[in-house]
Amino acid sequence: MKTLDLVANITICCENELTESQKNVVKAAKEATLCSYAPYSKFNVGAAVLLDNGIIVKGSNQENAAYPSGLCAERTALFYAGAAYPDAKVKKIAVVSSKNGIINEKICSPCGACRQVMFESQYRAGSPIEVLLCGANDIYIFNSVDILLPFGFDYDDL
Ligand code: THU
Repeated sequence: MKTLDLVANITICCENELTESQKNVVKAAKEATLCSYAPYSKFNVGAAVLLDNGIIVKGSNQENAAYPSGLCAERTALFYAGAAYPDAKVKKIAVVSSKNGIINEKICSPCGACRQVMFESQYRAGSPIEVLLCGANDIYIFNSVDILLPFGFDYDDL
């Protein structure tokens, strides 16, 4: 028998400690919360994706009266990036949530389905995607989706 230890390196910092490109993607994620359509949960989520062509794509959660038909902000942004810029690689994704226009204190932790979609984007990119989960004060930086989804399933598993 043997055991494997998972080691996760997560940086926690505040906004003024970010690099310019990190600041830009976080700013875009905050702006994206304003386009959230969340009349049911009233939980507004914004996501922004930085592509290797320098373009930042924004997405927000889009809810539906038939609840499961809605989509999270992260997948809205990643699918839009894939649809509009199929040849671009995702470099970073930032996620933030707000309620009544105020950024939530707690970081917005992506759901399992969004982690899986991030994992696919990372596979497609061929290099680690940096994930920035933002709370009102703290920003958690994961240097790879692998940390959020260890042992994820991808093309090579088929
Ligand atoms: N939501 C996201 O958009 N991203 C997350 O990371 C967590 C949850 C959305 C889905 C739903 O519209 C609302 O937040 C409440 O779950």
